[in-house]
Amino acid sequence: MLNLFDLTGEVAVVIGGAGVLGGALAEGLAQAGAKVAILDLDRSAERGEARVKAIRDQGGQAGFFAANAVSRPSLAAAHQSVEAALGAPTILLNAAGGNDPKVTVSAERAFEQIALEDWQANFNLNLAGGALLPCQEFGPAMCRRGKGSIINIASVSAHLPLSRVVTYSAAKAAVLSLSRFLAREWATQGVRVNTITPGFFPAEQNRKLLFNDDGSPSDRTKAIWGHTPMNRFGEARELVGAVIFLASTKASSFVTGADLRIDGGYLAQTI
Ligand SMILES: NC(=O)c1ccc[n+]([C@@H]2O[C@H](COP(=O)([O-])OP(=O)(O)OC[C@H]3O[C@@H](n4cnc5c(N)ncnc54)[C@H](O)[C@@H]3O)[C@@H](O)[C@H]2O)c1
Repeated sequence: MLNLFDLTGEVAVVIGGAGVLGGALAEGLAQAGAKVAILDLDRSAERGEARVKAIRDQGGQAGFFAANAVSRPSLAAAHQSVEAALGAPTILLNAAGGNDPKVTVSAERAFEQIALEDWQANFNLNLAGGALLPCQEFGPAMCRRGKGSIINIASVSAHLPLSRVVTYSAAKAAVLSLSRFLAREWATQGVRVNTITPGFFPAEQNRKLLFNDDGSPSDRTKAIWGHTPMNRFGEARELVGAVIFLASTKASSFVTGADLRIDGGYLAQTI
């Protein structure tokens, strides 16, 4: 019987693959049969290599490649190394990104005090590093081969801005827009571009907002749970099915420009 979710023969590049969500998704893609290239910053190499080992221990194929998502030359070098080691990429999952306390509105920092260079750095990470530059680097090669699935990560804050994280929300809204632009641009060339919208998942980049210093849930966390019909955070493994669906041409060949929400119902309600 045809397995719609079998990724055997695919080569998946997961940028930010040393992170909490990217790492779980890299592992999920490998479990579905893809060879997986984990790209992340040099400073995250240890976590990236640990994920590679976990994948290999489960019988999968993976490699870690140091790369900076906000540098096109760095992505180009990693692209070459991935191709030599694992083959030409057919799946691109952009999971580098996150909020930065320097651009978070707080009692100490009003909106008008956000420094332009901090705004630009966070916006650049989430839009240029989280979508634009990797799409520019990997997308055209996929188009030349007539096959590819690109998955960018938005956020519930891309749909309606969240309090405090103004830069992040604006950048994620731009990720949605760029993804839809590319979906149209590459639709006839065999390359699909979709987004996922995760709700709230505890990770490195949002720890300070979600938990107090003693590890207890912050007031913001209580508000998030109160607004999430399932009344809890998501777990990284709960994103895997959505990503395999979008990655698999057999499962989602006519799906492009779509956004798949995995948010426990967060965006389904107002109050
Ligand atoms: N955790 C959530 O609740 C949540 C919700 C919605 C969207 N997201 C998005 O999911 C993605 C993954 O985030 P996460 O929550 O797993 O965070 P994380 O901090 O655990 O992982 C982010 C990873 O990106 C890497 N990274 C940062 N800058 C990079 C760069 N310039 N080049 C290459 N790699 C870089 C980090 O080293 C890290 O491994 C992000 O785009 C984030 O905005 C997360």
